[in-house]
Amino acid sequence: NTPPRLREIMDSFIRHIHAFANEVQLTSDEWLLGVEMINWAGQMSNEKRNESQLMCDVIGLETLVDDITYTAATKSVNGLTASAILGPFYRHDHPVRKNGTTISFNTPKDAKPAFMYGRVTDAVTGKPLANSSIDVWQASTNGLYEQQDPEQEDLNLRGRFITDAEGRYSYYCLRPTPYPIPEDGPAGKMLRMMDRHFYRPAHIHLYVRSEGYKPLVTQIFDKDCTYLGNDTVFAVKDELSVEFKPRTGDPEASWEVEYNITLASS
Ligand code: DHB
Ligand code: FE
Repeated sequence: NTPPRLREIMDSFIRHIHAFANEVQLTSDEWLLGVEMINWAGQMSNEKRNESQLMCDVIGLETLVDDITYTAATKSVNGLTASAILGPFYRHDHPVRKNGTTISFNTPKDAKPAFMYGRVTDAVTGKPLANSSIDVWQASTNGLYEQQDPEQEDLNLRGRFITDAEGRYSYYCLRPTPYPIPEDGPAGKMLRMMDRHFYRPAHIHLYVRSEGYKPLVTQIFDKDCTYLGNDTVFAVKDELSVEFKPRTGDPEASWEVEYNITLASS
């Protein structure tokens, strides 16, 4: 009584992996090297690091699966904010913070503080979506998320914001900076074997939820970032690139970005 969908997935997976081994005439030694890479990924993974996910990401698999999932769920809706992968650094326990407050509690000297704001609306009707929650998270200027970095306090550069009656949210963050993904494991080894770089373009993660709407996992990318055209995990989409503009008259931030989000009803 295996569910039919599971049977379909397993049948196809086995067919394709046999076709792959046949195509390259894979030898026993080569196959064992692959097994060792998978074991190494498992040994490196823990609640703070998901190396198997990272291996999938550098070959574009998470982005492909995200596109398949989100496109299937929202095919008929135009003008919808595009999705992008969750990535390995999300935490489920984001603290709710007040709109207009900061997520940066250990602001490094080289950081560029920024103000980010916008509205969440219904993609079809344009109706503002009050009480939507927006989880945001980003790496610091050293390229590390708070859980990878003993120098940052718990939950630094993370927060959950709730939209007001007009669907508005706002917070202070850092203008994001590009950084390399961890290169000391099998994902790094794969990138080296392919002569690829390790960099992700500057980005901020967003996870938006609103009652009666499909949840949106996405990222915004700094339009001026050099790595925009070759993200090592293939998450960039044109419509997710944003322009950070100089902000005047605000001692808290010298940059600002407006980002409006549209959701599809579920
Ligand atoms: C990956 C995603 C991220 O957002 C990030 O900061 C690092 C790595 C990834 O998909 O592997
Ligand atoms: Fe990230």
